[in-house]
Amino acid sequence: IQEEALAKISACADAKELNDLRVFYLGKKGPIQAAMKSMKTMAPEERKTFGQVSNKTKQEIGQAIEEKKAYLEEKALNERLLAEDIDISLPGNRLPVGSVHPLTRVKEDLEELFLGMGYKVAEGPEVESDHFNFELMNLPKGHPARDMQDTFYIDENTLMRTHTSPVQAHVMLEAKGKGPIKVICPGKTYRRDDDDATHSHQFMQCEGLVIDKNITMGDLKGTLDVFAKKMFGEKREIRLRPSYFPFTEPSVEVDISCANCGGKGCAMCKGTGWIEVLGAGMVNPHVLEMCGFDPKEYQGFAFGIGLERVAMLKYDIDNIRDFYNNDLRFLEQFERKE
Ligand code: PHE
Repeated sequence: IQEEALAKISACADAKELNDLRVFYLGKKGPIQAAMKSMKTMAPEERKTFGQVSNKTKQEIGQAIEEKKAYLEEKALNERLLAEDIDISLPGNRLPVGSVHPLTRVKEDLEELFLGMGYKVAEGPEVESDHFNFELMNLPKGHPARDMQDTFYIDENTLMRTHTSPVQAHVMLEAKGKGPIKVICPGKTYRRDDDDATHSHQFMQCEGLVIDKNITMGDLKGTLDVFAKKMFGEKREIRLRPSYFPFTEPSVEVDISCANCGGKGCAMCKGTGWIEVLGAGMVNPHVLEMCGFDPKEYQGFAFGIGLERVAMLKYDIDNIRDFYNNDLRFLEQFERKE
């Protein structure tokens, strides 16, 4: 019996078959058990030896099965490991990587530039009240300058902000009359313009506001000079021209020197040698007052940069609609996000 069992165990090739053998040889209905039944009729001496031999046979078959089981398990594990083997030298699949949108780039560049000069970044709502967008910016109802900013109204008192200037009012009111304030506020703005190569009904601005004691126009000019040189290159110069905004007095339009012709005049700067980039001025004392600051104690300057304008100049883009069409052929020209 033992010989036959051991031969079968050694020939057995899988776990299920091995289990069947175990049940057969070591179970109650197996040949060993049957042989042991005959012990009842044996003489005591004979019974003793027969019992010992039977138990030893059982033990040895059991051990052979355990050994075979361990061997089969190890073999299965090795086969699995071999099947799961990965070749780490194979090149991976490259995932498509997006690029940073040029407007986001300009926004982040501006934030970095002004954070470096000690400014904080502030935000305000895009759906704004007439009060903040106009009234607190010294544009009462019926003011002719409201026509400069054709507005999307949601209801009589609510609108899509036409500029980032209302964030000035939010920041000043939060400061409760105590300076200094040094913030920039980049964000989306909306106007009811017909879209063309240089106009978009949705666009982006970056507001700047500084409030402190003894702030002068010289501080504004110095700040904008740093902005022009950091953003467009060290050789760029700025020029201030008198202008009008209800929320600043005096107000200026700021031009940067044309890099294309070096000031001689070309198509890009329409022959003037200068390109307009932003509006700015000293915060109107009436605005300071309405927003909780004492104009006898505090002065300030503000500026509003058009982000599309900056991006168009920086990356030589001639159609504002390119920013909003999300054509991959356009977007892929800009730096990848590695
Ligand atoms: N808010 C003005 C505009 O959108 C720009 C501006 C901001 C001008 C701050 C002066 C000071 O046209």
